[in-house]
Amino acid sequence: MSEIELKNKFPEDFLWGSATSAHQVEGGNKNSWSEWEKKNAERLAKEAGDKWKKWQQEKFPEMFELENYISEKACDHYNRYEEDFDIAKELGHNAHRFSIEWSRIEPEEGKFDEKEIEHYRKVILALKKRGLEPMVTLWHWTNPVWLSKKGGEYNKKFPEHFSNYVKFVVANLGDLVNFWITINEPMSVIASSYITGVWPPQKKSILSAWRVYKILAMTHNEAYNVIHNLNNDCKIGFANIITDFEAINEKSKLNNFVLKVANYFSRDKFLKMVSGKNDFLTVQYYFHKKIKLPVQIIKTNDRIVSDLEWEIYPKGIYRILKDLKKYGLPIYITENGLADADDSRREQFIKEHLRWVHKAIEEGVDVRGYFYWSLLDNFEWDKGYWPRFGLVEVDFKTQERKIRPSAWKYAKICKNNEI
Ligand code: FCB
Repeated sequence: MSEIELKNKFPEDFLWGSATSAHQVEGGNKNSWSEWEKKNAERLAKEAGDKWKKWQQEKFPEMFELENYISEKACDHYNRYEEDFDIAKELGHNAHRFSIEWSRIEPEEGKFDEKEIEHYRKVILALKKRGLEPMVTLWHWTNPVWLSKKGGEYNKKFPEHFSNYVKFVVANLGDLVNFWITINEPMSVIASSYITGVWPPQKKSILSAWRVYKILAMTHNEAYNVIHNLNNDCKIGFANIITDFEAINEKSKLNNFVLKVANYFSRDKFLKMVSGKNDFLTVQYYFHKKIKLPVQIIKTNDRIVSDLEWEIYPKGIYRILKDLKKYGLPIYITENGLADADDSRREQFIKEHLRWVHKAIEEGVDVRGYFYWSLLDNFEWDKGYWPRFGLVEVDFKTQERKIRPSAWKYAKICKNNEI
């Protein structure tokens, strides 16, 4: 079934783990997103009927409930991180990616909260105690309320505000962290907040999108300098969502031109703007898209899809990795995963993607880690709680955790360092 061999060893010291982000798992956050949720939950619940297919509506009736769209307690990971890291350890992970919540660290402009930084110190120490290498994201989309009032990432001073926060965090935690991720998925923010306008601040304009594009590149570059000024030894990158675009008609010159344009704006241009400011590259792979002109995303009928109807297309990760080889930097896959509530596709999903990752490694791509998204079922932004990405199932009423069967299959891979 697979085009590649079944049994494969991964390089020594390969990082195996999963990823989360503060707002999606912690609970109790007050930031740009929690404010937006309060204002938009009712609308989102009403729109679910138009947005999702019948089978999805029947399988996930919670999408019609207002509470689905309010993060509130999330997974209560803020209080339960030790229990959750016990699970990650039991599952054979040797690394973990998580994010620090800016709104906790700097709840008011220029006022840094010592207690909260102490909290994250404990989080990192809890990981280390369990033999999990921390990969720490500094911005996973949420802004402190004071900053979102000034426009958040739309504000030209965003890089400066971010650098001040980063300085404080790295001065306090830098001794414990080898891997920093400055910002998460600039392209998702640009696309969903400023082009389609479905995420806060819902500014729908190409000019705003371009402005934020430049601001986020600058934000990364400045943060890179700030971190390295404090700590020379650590490694720094940003979390990059990369879509595997394909021309619908490979022979058509026009189609190939559209493909080039899509790749240029969604990856190459940004990478150029941050060149020289990355110690490693990352891949967050979720989407394979066939395109043609006029710009159109083509869906074919034979696709295997997740609960969100995102196509499952493992080969895409291979093509992306091969493309990134030219940059000559180590690569970490910092997110890859699917929403699969009944866990019927997850094992296969992970194995197939890893087979293609391994093939890329065999062909000389320097891939050094894989982080499944996510450790826990969590709050999936404007979609809320119904999409179930976790290796671990979470009952959001009782906060009970249940390890899914696929998590044990992934554990075997992590423990043996091979598929
Ligand atoms: C990524 C995000 C992550 C999660 C997954 C499903 O784009 O970085 O927070 O929402 O998608």
